[in-house]
Amino acid sequence: MIPRCFVIGHPIAHSRSPLIHGAWLAEHGLDGAYDRIDVAPAGLAAFVARIRAGEFAGGNVTVPHKEAVLPLLDETSEAARAMGAANTLWLEDGRLCGDNTDAAGFLGHLDASAPGWDARVRTALLLGAGGAARAIAHGLKGRGVARIVLANRNRTRAQELAASLGAPLEAAEWSARHGLVPAADLIVNTTSLGMKGQPPLDLDLSGLKPGAIVDDIVYVPLKTALLVEAERRGATIVDGLGMLLHQAVPGFARWFGVTPSVTASLRARLEADILGT
Ligand code: ATR
Repeated sequence: MIPRCFVIGHPIAHSRSPLIHGAWLAEHGLDGAYDRIDVAPAGLAAFVARIRAGEFAGGNVTVPHKEAVLPLLDETSEAARAMGAANTLWLEDGRLCGDNTDAAGFLGHLDASAPGWDARVRTALLLGAGGAARAIAHGLKGRGVARIVLANRNRTRAQELAASLGAPLEAAEWSARHGLVPAADLIVNTTSLGMKGQPPLDLDLSGLKPGAIVDDIVYVPLKTALLVEAERRGATIVDGLGMLLHQAVPGFARWFGVTPSVTASLRARLEADILGT
């Protein structure tokens, strides 16, 4: 029986995960399947029962199930527990396991795009305080960043996230973000601002530190206005598409037994798909 895998969400039609895993299956000449499956919230428990019954080797979980799936699992990774959410599931000796690969995906792409970044980044400025900010802050803390400042429109949310992850996280007012730019060695936009169809991100980069790294997890457009401006000012820029590709690596390795690479040709295929939408 060939390993069958899934990405579940609601809606799910626009998930690009099948493109990524399908390309890796073809590249490695592996027999396997990876399909989108629309699962409404009321159907999550029944779907989990199908995984336990052995219908699938595993798969990905996306909005709105990442948090809701956690209590349905037998084993969770430290990252999934810290995130309160899982995005990658697999069966191991009949036990249903879950991990969260968002932080690993973010770090994998940052490592590839700005090698040695962790030796020079002391202060990180994160815009946003949602699930993506939680994953990224957790990842940066794990890599020893000395100061991580969260600026979010809803300050209470930033304070709660900072309290939950602990030092070196701190919360700042959304209006303080411009003034925080000159101290930041790394700036990450984790909000949806700047995404196609969303309002622009207003961030004054005039005081940007020489040698700073600017990372935007938004990937539609591929190069956001923030990245265009940061590049113009000489920053190292890191885009959101790479995070999407890198977060898929651990799942594929578990389900199909081969650790895939994030290659330029795979990236080009995704870029073409995004530009075609
Ligand atoms: P995700 O899980 O992808 O991080 P999310 O939890 O919906 O998604 O978080 C979206 C982030 O974008 C939040 O930080 C949100 O700010 P609030 O917590 O104040 O809602 C931020 N965001 C979305 N629209 C925004 C806007 N117009 N101005 C400022 N921040 C915005």
